[in-house]
Amino acid sequence: MDRTSRVVSAEEMARQREFGAQVKALYERRGRVPMAYTQTFGCQQNEADTELIRGMLAEMGFGFCTDIDQADIVIINTCAIREHAEDRVYGNVGELSHAKKKNPALVTVLCGCMAQQQHVADRIKNSYPYVDIVFGTHALPRFPQILFECLSRKKRVFDLEGDEKGAILEGVTPVRKQGHRAWLSIMYGCNNFCSYCVVPYVRGRERSRTPDVILEEFRSLVAQGYKDITLLGQNVNSYGSDLDGACDFPTLLEMINDVPGEFWVRFMTSHPKDASTRLFDVMAKCEKVCASIHLPVQAGSDRVLREMNRRYTAEKYLSLVEYARSVMPDITMTSDIIVGFPGETNEEFQETVDLLEKVRFDSLFTFIFSPRRGTKAWDMPDPMSREDKQKNFDRLLEVQNRISKEKNDEYVGRRVRVLVGEEENEKSYNNEYTKQSRTEGFKLVYLRGAEGLEGRFVDAIIERSSTWALFGSVADGESN
Ligand code: SAH
Ligand code: SF4
Ligand code: F3S
Repeated sequence: MDRTSRVVSAEEMARQREFGAQVKALYERRGRVPMAYTQTFGCQQNEADTELIRGMLAEMGFGFCTDIDQADIVIINTCAIREHAEDRVYGNVGELSHAKKKNPALVTVLCGCMAQQQHVADRIKNSYPYVDIVFGTHALPRFPQILFECLSRKKRVFDLEGDEKGAILEGVTPVRKQGHRAWLSIMYGCNNFCSYCVVPYVRGRERSRTPDVILEEFRSLVAQGYKDITLLGQNVNSYGSDLDGACDFPTLLEMINDVPGEFWVRFMTSHPKDASTRLFDVMAKCEKVCASIHLPVQAGSDRVLREMNRRYTAEKYLSLVEYARSVMPDITMTSDIIVGFPGETNEEFQETVDLLEKVRFDSLFTFIFSPRRGTKAWDMPDPMSREDKQKNFDRLLEVQNRISKEKNDEYVGRRVRVLVGEEENEKSYNNEYTKQSRTEGFKLVYLRGAEGLEGRFVDAIIERSSTWALFGSVADGESN
């Protein structure tokens, strides 16, 4: 495999650094450090992309601010997964007009999945004249050039160009959030074309980073003190299928597990069609790989799954769950469900409820189907009313909330390992449990007696539970 054709070339990187240096010089002439304000919608992959953009901004001399009034540049990294996500972005973009009035030199930027769509770029061009730059996911490596063009020519820049097999950007150091948790993208894009989903259209085809660069970044995260690291991809189970068999996902997990240091590693998302028994065997064997999986099932009816182009049956899904639990009895499982896919009947919806009762997920992310332009499901006949879909949705939540509470109850009285976070518990009714922490299964535990233990793994005794969280205290012998 010719690695050089898969990543942005050294010449192109040098060219972009040159543009970056010119941006830096432009602001230096204005005599101060320019400030950037970033806002991210959507999934963790978008969070990771924003961290890369912040890395490029830092190279160009920018500092970062949390108050938009202090910003020289505002970057909104957008999500297109559902209409609601896009509406929220349009709302926020509208507010930029005030910021721009206060500070006409402010550069306003829209990027990411939503921006990759031509119809969105057209709408911004015509109706939101105070947006200076729109660039899509494929143009990310060209960001310094785009910014330089906007600043030097004082004109709006729209860049949706790019190959959907686009080269991977390497060599930029992401500016991550402080704390103990970090994201690490191991691949980009998606090949699956689930019939409802816009992701393959806005992020292009699957492209895997090579194991050597992933391991290098992983080691550096551990050295920086990150303790809970999530490997990201739209379908991590097909990691490496474009690397000529050099490495697959379970092998990558084994290599990461061998990295020295105290950490947990987890991953998302796994597509059930590509989840293998070997994946679960490796998870069970590798003690730093969390016994926890997000395995989106989407629906319980085989007809609906077929229409969704998911390429597995409910039975296949249940057999995966059974196998995972046979090798990791304590594994936590979460999933995504779409309610009201076009043509889904109430009987078919009942099959989703039945599946939930069989699997008993720890928690669930539930969505009402949202038609996405350009996808196959956009044109499918969709006779069920919004009200009926909402009723099914509410019922699903009721069932899941009961199961979540029952699952959490099982933890009461148990001693579990947790990683203590920085965040405080803001809910005053439980304010003796002041610190947030997470279990290996990513359950939220509010802790008492954990002051000064931020960033450490400790044992906790679970005392109480709710639908959403556990409450406990630090076990004896664990404090400083
Ligand atoms: N790659 C991941 C999911 C990414 S999108 C996977 O395959 O599991 C996250 C979730 O959003 C999906 O699992 C799905 O449940 C939901 N989703 C995607 N498109 C949607 C749409 N058009 N309407 C409603 N929910 C959608
Ligand atoms: Fe979308 Fe399906 Fe790809 Fe997930 S696997 S990103 S749901 S097309
Ligand atoms: Fe949204 Fe793009 Fe992620 S559409 S969910 S931000 S891949």
